[in-house]
Order: sequence, then C-alpha cells, then structure tokens
Amino acid sequence: MKTNNPAFHWLAAVATSLALSSTAQADSSPAASLQIQVLSGACANCHGTDGRLGGAIPVIAGRPAAVLESQLLAFKRGEEPKATVMTRHASGYTDDELAALADYFSKLGR
Ligand code: HEC
Repeated sequence: MKTNNPAFHWLAAVATSLALSSTAQADSSPAASLQIQVLSGACANCHGTDGRLGGAIPVIAGRPAAVLESQLLAFKRGEEPKATVMTRHASGYTDDELAALADYFSKLGR
C-alpha cells in the first residue's frame, strides 16, 4: 500500500484518536460499564431507571442474576407464551448482553 495516500493518513489519524479516546474513557469509567449503561437504558423506559418501577411492570432490580438471565433467554427463545413485549425486546440482544444485563440489574438494590 502507498503510504503517501491521503486517505491512509486520515484513517491512521482516526484510528489513533479512537484509540486515545477509548483509553481516556477507560481511565474515568471502564468501557464495559459505559456499555451496560447504554444497554440497560433501553430497559428503563418500562422498568424504571433502576429496574424497580413496579406496578404493572415486574421489578427486575436486586433479583438473582441467574433467574434474570434465564427469564431473558426464555423470552428471546419464545419460551414464555404469556409474554407481551419482552419476547420482541430480548431478541434484540446477544446472549452475552443478556447475561451482562442480568448481572447489572441483580446488583441494584430493590
Ligand atoms: C416496552 C416495555 C419494556 C421494555 C423496554 C423492557 N421490558 Fe422487561 N418486561 C416488560 C413487561 C411488560 C414484562 C412482563 C412480561 C411481558 O409481558 O412481556 C417484562 C418482564 C421482564 C422480565 C421478567 C420479570 C419477571 O419477574 O417476570 C425481565 C427479567 C425483564 N423484563 C428484563 C428486561 C430487561 C433487561 C430489559 C432491557 C434490555 C427490559 N426488560 C426491557 C416490559 C418491558
């Protein structure tokens, strides 16, 4: 590859700044925690900011991670016939993301 190609230099600059900014984020807040904030934000619309809105929507905060994870996987696989929205919602996440979400909500106080 010709290294005097301007596009190459632009890409190198972008790659460097991305590497630098992810390092900067890792210093104040680990990337993993940033990602779980983004993922769990989608749940807040219905389950409340910390997963404990209550009322018609089940409280998910402070429940055992293994229970939450198996419920989420069951929704995703269509094994919860009574589910209304969760089957569609859970299908948008990988199994790893659902495990991370279960872990996150299990650690929040009820
Ligand atoms: C559109 C509203 C909505 C969103 C968004 C939503 N939920 Fe739900 N959730 C529900 C409802 C309603 C139920 C009850 C089951 C059903 O009807 O699908 C439920 C049930 C659950 C349950 C089972 C709780 C129990 O005890 O039965 C878990 C776990 C859960 N949600 C986790 C999540 C997580 C994690 C997210 C974010 C990735 C999320 N939900 C996003 C509405 C929502």
